[in-house]
Amino acid sequence: MPSIYFTLSAAALAGFASVAQAQTNITTNACADGSNYSSCNRNVANNWSSCVNDCNGDGNCMVDCGCTAHQEYINCMAQSCWNQVYSCEYQLFVQQYFSVCPSAVEPIPFWPAPDNAPNRCSCDLGKVLQNTLTARKEQVTCMSNVTDQTVSEASNGSIANLGNGLDIAKQATDCACCGASASYSAAWEVCPNTVPTLAGADLWPVFFPDDMPNMYTSIPNWAWDTCDSTLDNVQCQDIGFNDSSDKFYKPGDFPRNGTSTLSNVAGTVTAPPSGTVITWSQASSTWTVTATGYDAKAVASQSDYRATATGTGAQYPEQTSVDNVNGAGNVRPVGGAVAALGFVGALMAL
Ligand SMILES: *[C@@H]1O[C@H](CO)[C@@H](O)[C@H](O)[C@H]1NC(C)=O
Ligand SMILES: *[C@@H]1O[C@H](CO)[C@@H](O)[C@H](O)[C@H]1NC(C)=O
Ligand SMILES: *[C@@H]1O[C@H](CO)[C@@H](O)[C@H](O)[C@H]1NC(C)=O
Ligand SMILES: *[C@@H]1O[C@H](CO)[C@@H](O)[C@H](O)[C@H]1NC(C)=O
Ligand SMILES: *[C@@H]1O[C@H](CO)[C@@H](O)[C@H](O)[C@H]1NC(C)=O
Ligand SMILES: *[C@@H]1O[C@H](CO)[C@@H](O)[C@H](O)[C@H]1NC(C)=O
Ligand SMILES: *[C@@H]1O[C@H](CO)[C@@H](O)[C@H](O)[C@H]1NC(C)=O
Repeated sequence: MPSIYFTLSAAALAGFASVAQAQTNITTNACADGSNYSSCNRNVANNWSSCVNDCNGDGNCMVDCGCTAHQEYINCMAQSCWNQVYSCEYQLFVQQYFSVCPSAVEPIPFWPAPDNAPNRCSCDLGKVLQNTLTARKEQVTCMSNVTDQTVSEASNGSIANLGNGLDIAKQATDCACCGASASYSAAWEVCPNTVPTLAGADLWPVFFPDDMPNMYTSIPNWAWDTCDSTLDNVQCQDIGFNDSSDKFYKPGDFPRNGTSTLSNVAGTVTAPPSGTVITWSQASSTWTVTATGYDAKAVASQSDYRATATGTGAQYPEQTSVDNVNGAGNVRPVGGAVAALGFVGALMAL
């Protein structure tokens, strides 16, 4: 893992405490089994705090504790609050998970929310983040292509070719501008009506792969707002970016900003969306979680539930959905990523 995650100062520890407290923002008493959910969450918080204490200030260890705690919170959701998994709150929680846990990988249960899911967030936050994660992968591949060429030129003894630094810097700049553009554009593309910062327009600085060894040494002064002319002259799809999932707006040429805040659309998730037993994995851990608080009849009437969280983009079953944004209720949006971003930001500043 990148070295930025290894060291922690007292200031970063203070930032950590606030992330530990932020938890999930799920409305406990609206959960399928609220009392089970609330004791489950309390157990996670206790686990998290004793895990952190046992780290004796080791930053890497504390990051691992944060990963584990977020995974355990997701298990609490799958167990007893599966009816709120498409909400803005859960989607923000997953965003927070990816931003505090460098080893987080797709697929994540119930994320992104399927199209037309009942009680889903008015902006598909999962899809915005997923585009950002894809942009990061594409950018890393694009950048490796540049460095691979450099290495192969060097290993052929044609050191003279390395003098072609301008060309390397140009290609690296192309990769960086396309990656940033794909990520920023996603917030406007996926959620055109939502205030961009709420939709995830601020995610890229968190996920920008600037920690890759040697990746940006050739473009030390790169900045997103200098990308207009680069993007005029490069076709991002020609250097490995997927133009069916990505849009590539230029810094000076974005669509109009949306003005809506986040809310949950109406509709009720009446049975555990992935079936009564869900299995999912991260890194070397696998969990099997059994849902509680469901009505067996509702489950039986929808027998084609996905059994596991493996495989992204799989179809979810049809569920009752009412596309009425007004019925939303108690959503407290924003914040989600922000505390976590502050946390990671604090780490990165070290
Ligand atoms: C939640 O319910 C399940 C199934 O009844 C039970 O096994 C589990 O211990 C409960 N968890 C908590 C924290 O109460
Ligand atoms: C807390 O940690 C213990 C020991 O690792 C684990 O068995 C338990 O499942 C954790 N609690 C929750 C709610 O995940
Ligand atoms: C380096 O040499 C190998 C094998 O001779 C060749 O395949 C490769 O294309 C060369 N690379 C460059 C950049 O000239
Ligand atoms: C890698 O670089 C080579 C040489 O510039 C180019 O032909 C190729 O399309 C690039 N591959 C990707 C995936 O960008
Ligand atoms: C590009 O994105 C589309 C839509 O997300 C996907 O179906 C396709 O497989 C992607 N192509 C590549 C080469 O990753
Ligand atoms: C639109 O939103 C972005 C991101 O918050 C902001 O930087 C930009 O200034 C906004 N544009 C306008 C015209 O308000
Ligand atoms: C929960 O809400 C608080 C207060 O608005 C916010 O600071 C925090 O980041 C939120 N956490 C998540 C995961 O949404």
